[in-house]
Amino acid sequence: MKLNIALLAGDGIGPEVIDQAVKVCDAIATKYEHEIAWKPALTGAAAIDAVGEPYPDDTHEVCASADAVLFGAIGHPRFDNDPSAKVRPEQGLLKMRQKLGLFANVRPTFTFPSLIDKSPLKRDRIEGTDLIILRELTGGVYFGKRGREDDGNTAYDTMTYTRAEIQRLAKKGFEMAMARGKKLCCVDKANVLESSRLWRETVQAMEKDYPEVEVSYEFVDAVAMRLVQWPKAYDVIITENLFGDILTDEASVISGSMGLMPSASVGSEVSLYEPIHGSYPQAAGKDIANPLATVLSAAMMFEDLGLQQEADDIRRVVNKSLSEGVVTEDLSEGGKSYKTSEVGDWLASNI
Ligand code: IPM
Ligand code: MN
Repeated sequence: MKLNIALLAGDGIGPEVIDQAVKVCDAIATKYEHEIAWKPALTGAAAIDAVGEPYPDDTHEVCASADAVLFGAIGHPRFDNDPSAKVRPEQGLLKMRQKLGLFANVRPTFTFPSLIDKSPLKRDRIEGTDLIILRELTGGVYFGKRGREDDGNTAYDTMTYTRAEIQRLAKKGFEMAMARGKKLCCVDKANVLESSRLWRETVQAMEKDYPEVEVSYEFVDAVAMRLVQWPKAYDVIITENLFGDILTDEASVISGSMGLMPSASVGSEVSLYEPIHGSYPQAAGKDIANPLATVLSAAMMFEDLGLQQEADDIRRVVNKSLSEGVVTEDLSEGGKSYKTSEVGDWLASNI
């Protein structure tokens, strides 16, 4: 198969972890006789420095015409403490999600047998966890009307959803539940928010089309608690953008490390694959960042492209590296640790 993949390394540790994913994908391509044409493009602070904006039109062209986008990380500390900055790296990510129509963010949470005891949560609580948080990604408070009142002392961000936006996300959620454990939980704050009441009403009306799916409705504050108390209660969770942002960081604790969790952002055209961690600027350039979340994101990419065996192969070598201790220092617990690039080389040579 010929694959045309847009490669957006981004900022901080982005380029380092992306390099390792490329090594692994190239090894897969050699083994299965695929041809991957990598199309690098600028995004984030790197793009601001080069051309003055975080998601340039050229980059959009590259992404829109690719079979998939593999993305590293975005963000730079020099913007974080400057509330007056007009252009920010994160705006690039939001613009990209919007322009590519990536309305659903798929964030799986699972455990690795060799890492269960690395989680701060007790083994019996988390062993066997296998859930997906499906986060709405192009609506809600991230994209609602925002601003300041004239005096500058009052600011607002609004959470807006249309029935159609909720329906397309919920449809994906129902379909995913059908292909898995047939349980769907709609997470909202319907006791307070009108937009949440529209979510509930919309999802309730869709239940009849999926009679096999057991649907529940829970408030986001209660889910924040139950997610770490008894994550095995969940199969597929659907939720709006900001709630999903918060719950997915929380859920990453279950797996033992944020450095392991992959994600996919999907819409009706091209899809994007990225680790859920950020640009981790303190580690940039040191060859110490954990590349596994990006490598596992590439596995999700192959799976979505219909290349299941290739995806399984990547997951197999990642599990092997974990059980054999070929890991970066975040997972080595003071024992022998490997550099980012060494882990990448090891994975590629074990494909
Ligand atoms: C994420 C990130 C982004 C978000 C930031 C970087 C804009 O936290 O992908 O979860 O809030 O969506
Ligand atoms: Mn986030």
